[in-house]
Amino acid sequence: MRRASVFLIDQNLLPFKFKIFNSPDYKTTCHAIKIMMARGAGAIGAAAGFAMAQAFLQKANIEKARKEIKSTRPTAQNLFYAVERVFNASNPVKEAQIIADEDVANCRKIGEHGEKLIKSGSRIETHCNAGWLAFVDYGTALSPIYLAKKKGKKCFVYVDETRPRGQGARLTAWELAGEKIPFKIIPDNAGAFLMSRGEIDLMIVGADRIAANGDAANKIGTLEKAIAAKEFGIPFYVAAPTSTIDLNCKSGKAIPIEERSEDEVLFQTGLNSKSETEKVLVCSPGAKAFNPAFDVTPAKYITGMITEKGIVTPTVAGIKSLTR
Ligand code: MRU
Repeated sequence: MRRASVFLIDQNLLPFKFKIFNSPDYKTTCHAIKIMMARGAGAIGAAAGFAMAQAFLQKANIEKARKEIKSTRPTAQNLFYAVERVFNASNPVKEAQIIADEDVANCRKIGEHGEKLIKSGSRIETHCNAGWLAFVDYGTALSPIYLAKKKGKKCFVYVDETRPRGQGARLTAWELAGEKIPFKIIPDNAGAFLMSRGEIDLMIVGADRIAANGDAANKIGTLEKAIAAKEFGIPFYVAAPTSTIDLNCKSGKAIPIEERSEDEVLFQTGLNSKSETEKVLVCSPGAKAFNPAFDVTPAKYITGMITEKGIVTPTVAGIKSLTR
């Protein structure tokens, strides 16, 4: 039996610690996806593709492994896309690597297309983390911003904190600081207020699954931002590779929405005064919580989809043009 490790950035430790996790087998990679050590649509997809390849190398029960990997997280289409591609490939390890390499190239292209939307001086709002941590490299929503910076454009990013897990406050803020892009974290409920005062020029978010009609599932809280953006006439873009499109979902209503543990709402983990990470209760003791991880933004609120093939309007025809 051949074994091969998958190396992942442990995103649960960020921004306090940067550590690479060595996953020796497909079951450990599944666990890493489940507990969101590897998270974000493209990173989940790449990890799932490698998990499938690991199952082949381990000579595991392939049907069982395929089901197990697919059951780790339900919403991100890239997970299902990658598992199926590797499952059907003649060389699974090679295929998993191709998927990861394509993710890098596609995200780079998304940056090239999206960068044209950014003027120097733009104030951009983003939600969650759709940067390079969430993919293999570059990211989707943040890729245009990174490229704009490289081209000498100055922009400012408002980062939604993205409760309950804080992907904006923890991950996007950490990425932007590393890239030397000026930003401020804003409370999740501040976006509409800033938009109403004319302080946001553009909003770019990622997507976890895009339906055939252009409806897009993304991190919970995206929908209310899109509605507010429409009200205040602010362009609202969704950036995603075409591997995130699921033509089997006719509309967003068919997209499965993950519900996660109530503990993510009730507790928060941060650094204490001794610089140790600590988990603390932040809600009324004994309170229960409901924790849907994603919401669906209807296509009518989306100005355009930034993909590796270009920017299209989120209509059946627009989405179809991408999947030919
Ligand atoms: O639950 P996560 O952190 O895996 O959520 C996925 C996301 O990162 C987002 O919804 C993101 O905005 C789009 S995919 C990078």
